Amino acid sequence: MAEKVSVGLIGCGVVGGGLVRALSRNGALMASRLGAQISVERIAVRDLSKNRDLPVEPAIFTTDWMSIATDPAIHLVVELVGGTDTAREMILTALRHGKSVITANKALICEYGEELFEEAEKNGVNLYYEASVAGGIPIIKALREGLIGNRVQRLYGILNGTCNYILTQMKNKGWDFDYALAEAQRLGYAEADPALDVDGHDTAHKAGILASLSYGFWVRPDQVHTEGIRGLDILDIQFAARMGYTFKLLAMVKPNLAAPVSQNGARPFSPVQVTVFPTLLPEDHVLANVNGVFNAVFVQGDVVGETLYYGPGAGADATASAVLSDLADAALDIKCDSAGRVPAFTPHEEDGEVQDIDSVVCPFYLRLQVMDRPGTMANIASILGDLNIGISSMFQPEGHEGDRVPLVLMIHDARHDAMREALKKIGQLDVVFGDPVMIRVEPFDPLPVLAD
Ligand SMILES: NC(=O)c1ccc[n+]([C@@H]2O[C@H](COP(=O)([O-])OP(=O)(O)OC[C@H]3O[C@@H](n4cnc5c(N)ncnc54)[C@H](OP(=O)(O)O)[C@@H]3O)[C@@H](O)[C@H]2O)c1
Repeated sequence: MAEKVSVGLIGCGVVGGGLVRALSRNGALMASRLGAQISVERIAVRDLSKNRDLPVEPAIFTTDWMSIATDPAIHLVVELVGGTDTAREMILTALRHGKSVITANKALICEYGEELFEEAEKNGVNLYYEASVAGGIPIIKALREGLIGNRVQRLYGILNGTCNYILTQMKNKGWDFDYALAEAQRLGYAEADPALDVDGHDTAHKAGILASLSYGFWVRPDQVHTEGIRGLDILDIQFAARMGYTFKLLAMVKPNLAAPVSQNGARPFSPVQVTVFPTLLPEDHVLANVNGVFNAVFVQGDVVGETLYYGPGAGADATASAVLSDLADAALDIKCDSAGRVPAFTPHEEDGEVQDIDSVVCPFYLRLQVMDRPGTMANIASILGDLNIGISSMFQPEGHEGDRVPLVLMIHDARHDAMREALKKIGQLDVVFGDPVMIRVEPFDPLPVLAD
């Protein structure tokens, strides 16, 4: 007879509803695999009058989440409410009452993870968060368990389906940003207020979690340099495509491998670049071909080499699948009395730090609107040259507006602070009109071979 694990669910909207349905479908299968039966005993929601059409008894619903978080008969609490205020209180209350907690709440984990993991440890329980990053892709488990013997040399993520849908449609259908966003909203891929997605914050929360897990020191959301895709010009998508590049909103987590080796010969894996911005990828790279609402994470480990994880990044079923995986882990931990066997987060590089954006080096795409007259290019090249910034190629697309023409420059590896300085000076030239457009390029060059 399988042991019964009693679960209290707080929040039963898109993901919670998906979880209840998935458990009804595959609960028996999981019980036979785990030797433990996962049973949702109580569900807290805000509004009892909503018609939910779920395969559970109406009597198990309540509006009193506290009664679930403190109920001695509940072994595990699943928080699927969202937000960072009440949800934090819900999780802390459950942990303090000796219950392990499962959450899909990336904003909360990124902002308050350190505090929540400490509280879990203090109470001898665990906090599981597989569903907080990349929906149905088991990336937390991959990093925490599958790649535990690797140092992460670099990690790239396409982590927001809404942005990826918008960028895919802009490239493939020639839609402008506003039209692509409106379509995403019509199809239910984007919220009425799309700021969290299109301004990059949702991706930044996920990047922060992946960086913390990979490098062992906690990365707060305000440390992640974040730029979104709002207002991206279709012109740049088209010009970049003609040069063999595709736009993605890319989360990048990579240590500065060029940092000098310390006196004892250890290679410091810090500072770590943790950034989110629209990025140009060579169109033959596998990540450039992740389209629509799909997510992908590319992780290079020093032992395994390059690995790729791909799948649906959001939605009721995909996210429920990740919560089921956490439920299975938590149920096994209860069954084997081993909460903390795989701690949710183990600090191990506590003096690690996030790299300042000014010192981050990468190639750039630059688009200027310039006066079509001799000497213009020489002025621009001289400003770049004075700052040691090299031009790798130049491209002058058609599109005269009177005596003004677009000019696209591809820039060799340069520091961000140098590029900012250059753009300020270039913008002041009387032959340059409007704000220059600057986009980072990720060439995925092979990593330097490092001496041990
Ligand atoms: N949706 C996705 O695709 C997705 C993907 C990955 C992660 N997530 C994360 O999963 C979490 C849940 O997202 P969701 O899309 O399922 O949200 P949702 O559809 O808005 O559902 C939220 C649920 O919380 C309940 N709730 C709100 N305040 C409550 C309170 N004070 N007490 C008890 N219940 C309360 C709501 O009750 P009512 O039903 O009565 O309103 C609703 O059932 C969020 O952290 C989100 O970031 C979502």
